[in-house]
Amino acid sequence: QLRDVFASEAAEWIGRRVLVQGWVHNIRFESKKLAFLDLRDGTGFLQCVLTDKLCMTVEAITLFREASVRLWGTLREDARAKGGLELHADYWCIIGPSHRDIEMILTHESNPDVLLTHRHLVIRGRHTSSVLKMRSIITQCFREHYFDRGYVELAPPTIVNTMCEGGSTLFPLDYFGEQAYLTQSSQMYLETAIPAVGDCFCILPSYRAEKSSTRRHLAEFHHLEAEMPFITFAQLLQAIEELVCDVYARVIHRGGELFRELNPNAAPPKRPFKRMDYADAIEFCRQHRIYKDEESRTPFEFGDDIPEAPERRMTDMIGEPILLCRFPIYLKSFYMQPCADDPDLTESVDLLMPGVGEIVGGSMRMWDHDELVKAYEREKMDASAYYWYTDQRKFGSCPHGGYGLGLERFCCYMLGVAHVRDVCLYPRYRGRLTP
Ligand code: 4AD
Ligand code: MG
Repeated sequence: QLRDVFASEAAEWIGRRVLVQGWVHNIRFESKKLAFLDLRDGTGFLQCVLTDKLCMTVEAITLFREASVRLWGTLREDARAKGGLELHADYWCIIGPSHRDIEMILTHESNPDVLLTHRHLVIRGRHTSSVLKMRSIITQCFREHYFDRGYVELAPPTIVNTMCEGGSTLFPLDYFGEQAYLTQSSQMYLETAIPAVGDCFCILPSYRAEKSSTRRHLAEFHHLEAEMPFITFAQLLQAIEELVCDVYARVIHRGGELFRELNPNAAPPKRPFKRMDYADAIEFCRQHRIYKDEESRTPFEFGDDIPEAPERRMTDMIGEPILLCRFPIYLKSFYMQPCADDPDLTESVDLLMPGVGEIVGGSMRMWDHDELVKAYEREKMDASAYYWYTDQRKFGSCPHGGYGLGLERFCCYMLGVAHVRDVCLYPRYRGRLTP
């Protein structure tokens, strides 16, 4: 009986006559009477052999890459073929023809912008399709991490009328005549849900109107956020370390061969992570000639924001994950809990990873009602829009904290990819709106 099989399960059908269908990843003629066709069907790749008349038809000679095809034949073991087996075709046909332009579009010399404009075709490539599959596995592993620990997944709205991370990166939106924004973070909504469901998380897009284009900033990114009631700052740091290490181990297990092919040098992060205060980071930069501004060689002072480039230099010098803690209050968002021993500092943390820099931002949340109201005033915010967030502190407040992790940045870190846009299906950043 004829079987319709996927490339990924072909090994189970050796010696049998099967039907396979997919796209022509590559075709090469060894001679007039012998051609090798690499079939790609989404699950993997399968080498197919066309002999004699099968590769002498007009269809065969004018076949372009990326045409969709159907092939019938027998699966045979062959040590020379990638994957150790190949399909000896006895019949085949084109389902959807391709076009000669495909060769121009997919040449390796194409410049990055041309490739991004044709990303709907580029994603069919071996590397890019593997990255997209690994991103799916990574997302699954994050969910499993949370579900194993009893967290509830929530879906807060992404159209909002409040800001969470500062007004300068808000995307405005006309919402039926009302002023709205695309959300920067779902954190505040998660906070309101902890009295309802306890530990919770979400994996949703967040938006930032980032004007500068760097290799780690997107206008739309996937934000993995979690919130936990009745925890301490030390427990928050513990939770972040455990998240990263547990997910790393899960991804190695689930990703298997696919993961090893993409990042053969991957090494799991060592525990415990280095803990470092913001003040120590400033001192480290001063001692190691990492400047606030490379050109003028201006040294860092306490109170300076540490921008992307120096942050990455420091992280790469230290060469291990860093939980960077206790940032000054005026460098961080309004909602952060001040430190008990120094009200000018916050119970805040950034997780920095070698190669990428910041991948997580988190904090304990201000949970005293009057203090929060003062923070609105300090930041000149319109408190009325935040009534529901304030209510959180009016009806059964409690110490709580959480964090947000940029999924694309985590993928870059795990897969050894340099630029966040390369782990997106269709990246969004200033200047890029298609496909
Ligand atoms: O540090 P951020 O801005 O923190 C928050 O938004 C908190 N409200 C999260 C929370 O506590 N629930 O963002 C958190 C993380 C960053 O560490 C980074 O990994 C990612 O989100 N991120 C971005 N990723 C890509 N492009 C951007 N423009 C990003 N902005 C933040
Ligand atoms: Mg941050």
